[in-house]
Amino acid sequence: ATLKSAYQNDFFIGTALGLSQIYESDKQESKIVANQFNSIVAENCMKSMFLQPQEGQFFFEDADKFVALGEKNKMFTIGHTLIWHSQLPDWFFIDKNGKDVSPEVLKQRMKNHIHTVVTRYKGKVKGWDVVNEAIMEDGSYRKSKFYEILGEEFIPLAFKYAQEADPKAELYYNDYNEWHLGKIETVVKMVKNMKSRGIRIDGVGMQAHVDMTSPTLAEYEKAIVKYAQAGVKVNITELDLSVLPSPWGTSANVADKVEYDEKMNPYVNGLPKDVEEKWENRYMDFFKLFLKHKDKIRRVTFWGLTDSQSWKNDFPVKGRTDYALFFDRKCEAKPIVEKIIKLA
Ligand code: XIL
Repeated sequence: ATLKSAYQNDFFIGTALGLSQIYESDKQESKIVANQFNSIVAENCMKSMFLQPQEGQFFFEDADKFVALGEKNKMFTIGHTLIWHSQLPDWFFIDKNGKDVSPEVLKQRMKNHIHTVVTRYKGKVKGWDVVNEAIMEDGSYRKSKFYEILGEEFIPLAFKYAQEADPKAELYYNDYNEWHLGKIETVVKMVKNMKSRGIRIDGVGMQAHVDMTSPTLAEYEKAIVKYAQAGVKVNITELDLSVLPSPWGTSANVADKVEYDEKMNPYVNGLPKDVEEKWENRYMDFFKLFLKHKDKIRRVTFWGLTDSQSWKNDFPVKGRTDYALFFDRKCEAKPIVEKIIKLA
């Protein structure tokens, strides 16, 4: 059995792909991707700074390759992400005098970006993270330029543009620290508002960048249930379970300010057996929860394939040795893979 075959009646099992995997430069990695997963998402190459670095100048080479790989393997291919405040080109909000663009111009730019990208992959990309990370843990809207210029309405607008370009693609709102009560409340309100206005939203993406203590299983379960009650599917979109100490309480914004400290990197020479066991048990607990709520969950996607390539080595503290994924630094399946397969 493989991950995807074990869970085929429950939910899609996905992985994020970096450029080397998209270009299939390592045979062993490509084999794992094709054998174990039935869904893929691009880790970076579909973000707006890469797709449209200058206004009207699109770069599709990497994204085309990514989408072709999904077609070749008959995978449920996900586009990440159309509208996000980060990894976004500078020109997006600036007019020719260096000032903020007007609401009308920003709408036009959003529409053009979304229409161009979604139309190109119509029928091939099956689901889009339309808007990413727009709501804070306390339930307030992130004060991004999108929000400053267009207010809350930028979110429904983005969904409307995406729906126009590919009426059949699934459309998602994606966010991190998705178990915070304030965030749940505002996301649910936003989902209901769009639905009442006939603007389609099919799912909420719960990123699931979790660690050994946060969130609790109870917090996570509550979030899954609340999002599902709003009438959308739940996608676990960027799952990784870090074994390293977390430097923060609640806010990802401290990330830039955290300095490297050896105490923050205790497992440079390998992961002790007892820590790995705790890590396995916590992963199992999460998968038990996903199975319990499989009627609500459409997809579980890992944020990367192997530990060597995981963004968790550099976030929120740079230069660490983390062990957050199912395949080790030699690209071998860890014991957790068999355990998760048996659980299904
Ligand atoms: C991360 C990538 O993994 C890194 O390679 C990149 O340098 C920064 O972005 N939330 C998201 C993802 O929605 O797009 C982010 O991916 C991780 C956090």
